[in-house]
Amino acid sequence: MSSEKSRYYEVCKGFNGLDKVLLRDPRGSSAEVYLYGGHVTSWKNDHGEELLFLSSKATFKPPKAIRGGIPICFPQFSCHGNLDRHGFARNRFWAIDDHPPPFPTNTSNKAFVDLILKPSEEEMKIWPHSFEFRLRVALGPGGDLMLTSRIRNTNTDGKPFSFTFAYHTYFSVSDICEVRVEGLETLDYLDNLQKKKRFTEQGDALTFESEVDKMYLSTPTKIAIIDHEKKRTYVLRKDGLPDAVVWNPWDKKAKAMADFGDNEYKHMVCVEAAAIEKPITLKPGEEWKGRLELSIVPSSYCSGQLDPRRVLQCS
Ligand code: BG6
Repeated sequence: MSSEKSRYYEVCKGFNGLDKVLLRDPRGSSAEVYLYGGHVTSWKNDHGEELLFLSSKATFKPPKAIRGGIPICFPQFSCHGNLDRHGFARNRFWAIDDHPPPFPTNTSNKAFVDLILKPSEEEMKIWPHSFEFRLRVALGPGGDLMLTSRIRNTNTDGKPFSFTFAYHTYFSVSDICEVRVEGLETLDYLDNLQKKKRFTEQGDALTFESEVDKMYLSTPTKIAIIDHEKKRTYVLRKDGLPDAVVWNPWDKKAKAMADFGDNEYKHMVCVEAAAIEKPITLKPGEEWKGRLELSIVPSSYCSGQLDPRRVLQCS
């Protein structure tokens, strides 16, 4: 590793002796990525404030996926197929990719890491396809967190494959009852709590007062999560990911999860940029790209002061 690179990037031991990559941007923001799962577990702004939720009960014990951060759901989202829920990428060991193929990079992004997942015999038994999954995690100007997934079909038997995908992002929020999600109003969604029945969302921003597990279809490229108490707005920008899942387990399901604190549901919301309704199909040699960019609007937004739509409309 060059000394230039090592100023921004360091490999060290995380919980339970698992390897993690620490990214530090010269402007102060940082992120942590575990090789287990290719899993981002931390994203901090230049004041050192954590922006992602990570459960205090997360186990960091393979084969259990890490509870919180940004699990990668691949090649199957949730139970949309025969594999275990959310596929296997989140509980496999990824490798650092020192020689990724050319990548159109923004030269001002110095803090980034490239990871790669290729199937072993174990995965080939449950999903008989050869693939290369390259994940770049980067910190951008202003502390943005950018994830780019590139998935290539490397089958030599001439067969295409199909998959579903999600960046299962757990955002840290001060109080779920004070949170609004903007950008999903009036869209159709499938409600996981009602046997995936299709509904149309009401015209107002989404608020939370009970368990939510909805998959919104054909969503816009930008979604905002407004945390009134923290006076902070997260902005998600996504590309190649038409769907968006919104999940909060609320009290009963929280209690039923061994790796999730009973009251932690109050301090998180998952808004997951995804490709689910129409699975992605790749022929041998073809590559798919799915990109997620997270930023926070460092304004002192509080109800009525700033129209959240303006946050969504500005580039
Ligand atoms: C969400 C799903 O994406 O993930 C929920 O929509 C699911 O149905 C949740 O409960 C958590 O899944 P897991 O496997 O990490 O407990």
